[in-house]
Amino acid sequence: MKDKFGRPVKSIRVSVTERCNLNCFYCHREGEWHRHHSEMTPDEIERILKIARELDIRKVKFTGGEPLCRNDIVEIVLKSAPLMDRDVSLTTNGTLLSKYAYELKEVGLDRVNVSLDTLDPEKYRRITRKDMLNDAIDGIYAAVDAGLNPVKLNMVLLRGINEDEIEDMIRFAADTGAILQIIELEAPVEKEQTGFFKKYHVNPKFIEEHLEKIAEQVKYNELHRRRRFVFNFEGKKAEVEIVRPMHNSEFCMYCTRIRLTSDGKLKPCLLRDDNLVDILTPLRSGATEKELKDLFIEAIMRREPYWK
Ligand code: 5AD
Repeated sequence: MKDKFGRPVKSIRVSVTERCNLNCFYCHREGEWHRHHSEMTPDEIERILKIARELDIRKVKFTGGEPLCRNDIVEIVLKSAPLMDRDVSLTTNGTLLSKYAYELKEVGLDRVNVSLDTLDPEKYRRITRKDMLNDAIDGIYAAVDAGLNPVKLNMVLLRGINEDEIEDMIRFAADTGAILQIIELEAPVEKEQTGFFKKYHVNPKFIEEHLEKIAEQVKYNELHRRRRFVFNFEGKKAEVEIVRPMHNSEFCMYCTRIRLTSDGKLKPCLLRDDNLVDILTPLRSGATEKELKDLFIEAIMRREPYWK
């Protein structure tokens, strides 16, 4: 189904919890921050995804918070995977992944994004306020070993913190068989002038320009207009993508997602909290399939490009 701007909606990001075992200082969090809200059950998620499927949404990504903080995450994936077209993914900080990777793969998880901004334990502690770098690294190895494919590493570029680690991260990704995704720090317009954003934001365009020069192959994702640079790095095959969401109208023009917060609100845009559509409350009070589907359509119709 297409929105008012003619953009097809192809995928849904389901935040399954706002809880997280890390506390990254830059995190934009997927939902509003309520510590005591009620999370959707696996059956409720399944019901909402059935409606999504009717609207031709065939890809799901589970996010959080940290999705592996839910002890029923395997059941959630098990119930959701059959509804989607073999593109079931999950974004995780990796710290609990060595425990879950094999089981998740078995119940239908296809691929995984692991947040990893640094390979330096000191910096990891500074960013996440936890001492869990080794757990995250173990999680990445387990994910590759379990056959989750691709494993992407999400590296948010932070001025004065990890700018000097790009080569180390490329090496680590190439060594493990993962794809490195370098992400520009993102904030809604009203936060852009804050000291925090100004202090840490770096435009990764310079990396992209460098990769354009050294790439032996550029893989192109038609749907998202995203390029993946493939090149030889110290004798190994390296694959790197750059994500530049800020003031990027192309980024919005080719956005094909809708989001669902962990308390069951459809969220048309990551950077906005003022246009959500609550689908869980009606679902819990006995709304019909038709009513729920109409709410879903309403949320799709509220989608607008954030960067115009
Ligand atoms: N800007 C860019 N990326 C962010 N993430 C979290 N907060 C931000 C932000 N402000 C990334 C995390 C994780 C993914 C879910 O979102 O690194 O990989």
